[in-house]
Amino acid sequence: MKNYHEIIEKNAGLMAILIMVTISLGAMVEILPLMYQKETATPVDGLKPYTALQMEGRDIYIREGCVGCHSQMIRPFRAETERYGHYSVVGESVWEHPFLWGSKRTGPDLARVGGRYSDAWHKVHLNNPRAVVPESIMPAFPWLEKNVLTGELTAKKLQTFRDFGVPYTDEDIAGAKDAVKGKTELEALIAYLQSLGTALK
Ligand code: HEC
Repeated sequence: MKNYHEIIEKNAGLMAILIMVTISLGAMVEILPLMYQKETATPVDGLKPYTALQMEGRDIYIREGCVGCHSQMIRPFRAETERYGHYSVVGESVWEHPFLWGSKRTGPDLARVGGRYSDAWHKVHLNNPRAVVPESIMPAFPWLEKNVLTGELTAKKLQTFRDFGVPYTDEDIAGAKDAVKGKTELEALIAYLQSLGTALK
């Protein structure tokens, strides 16, 4: 019998092509079903699009690199659900562009931090984490309180999300600028944090 294994091993070009075919098939098996599964495209009941202020807060969260120390993804293990609450489900993330699940946990997971602390607590904590958690190694973000939002781009941000399928109304977009103008970055970030994980508790 012909030794097919040897033929492939001694022919780099053929081997490369076969490797690509194998990887492509594997990828299709993993990726294609997700694109057609209803579950991965249906928002959970009670999911609300970010308000204009929360949307600005989300961008500040991205800008300040919070995602580099905080995940937003509670895994379905007892140790996690006891600490953080119900594990994350995909229907909570269908309107996230891009999602901020993260993978590094220098600090705690924030997927359900909404409502866990008061706005006043967040204010003190973000200005100086050591003021409320003496052993904290989280950096302070004192400029957030001083920077004031102009709202120049807020409507565009909502519009972009709407283009991706997030159900914003014309009124939401028209009122976006006025909704954030004059607010501080700290207020926006806290509004965002307080919304996290509240659709499903
Ligand atoms: C260098 C890593 C680091 C960065 C960057 C960082 N954090 Fe933290 N964060 C921590 C650590 C460590 C803790 C736990 C100690 C504490 O509560 O301060 C924490 C705690 C928190 C908590 C309290 C969570 C809880 O359940 O008790 C919140 C809220 C939070 N961070 C928000 C933020 C936000 C918003 C940003 C970005 C502006 C940010 N963090 C950036 C490390 C970080």
